Amino acid sequence: MSGRKFFVGGNWKMNGNKDEIKKIVDGLNSATLNDNTDIVVSPPACYLEYTKGLLSPKISTAGQNCYKAAKGAFTGDLSPQMLIDVGADWVIIGHSERRNVFGEGDELIAEKTAFALESAVGVIACIGEKLEEREAGKTEEVVFQQTKAIAAKVTNWDKVVLAYEPVWAIGTGKTATPQQAQDVHAQLRKWLRENVSESVANSLRIIYGGSVTGGNCKELAQSPDIDGFLVGGASLKPEFVEIINARG
Ligand code: G3P
Repeated sequence: MSGRKFFVGGNWKMNGNKDEIKKIVDGLNSATLNDNTDIVVSPPACYLEYTKGLLSPKISTAGQNCYKAAKGAFTGDLSPQMLIDVGADWVIIGHSERRNVFGEGDELIAEKTAFALESAVGVIACIGEKLEEREAGKTEEVVFQQTKAIAAKVTNWDKVVLAYEPVWAIGTGKTATPQQAQDVHAQLRKWLRENVSESVANSLRIIYGGSVTGGNCKELAQSPDIDGFLVGGASLKPEFVEIINARG
């Protein structure tokens, strides 16, 4: 295998309350989880400290977004420093919902990624094409452009995980086939080799997101360039344990 440690993130999005989070975390804490998987859950920011307080130390927390400053007049936003203050080690940046619902562009996402890394927070950096872009044969063009913007600002990739999330597979129940996902992951690794470095291409975890479930995770995990998952809906359910353990 690749030697890259499997990475599974649960993006809870704007879901949950304290009672529901307690039930989810109790299930995770009582489950047998693969020690060879890095596990991260990402609750809404207001529940980060609460979730961290309940979680087994085997599981880290992530913010779902952050800004590119440590503090200031940025109403409604939060900083990587604040994420650290509430025990989070990671942050998801550039999720397709930040791009397509909240209008975040490649440049802002790259700047936020760089600032979070400089602030010692790991970044799960999200990229992915829309259905019409795939149907127009532009998948590689789109994901390469998104990755290029990030690569222009990142100097140290050690705490970066790249999440390929085809927009047409997010929340739709329409998962990319293992071959579709593997093809894009392999092309991304080739792009990294040609535009960043051999070592980054070999060591960077590229994870897949988009309707991952307990039923499809094992087949997806067999692909050599799929190093884990970023999971939405299924991360709120008991099947998230199967996804964490997908690469036994
Ligand atoms: O960030 C993960 C998310 O976008 C995938 O959502 O519900 O398709 O697993 P889902």
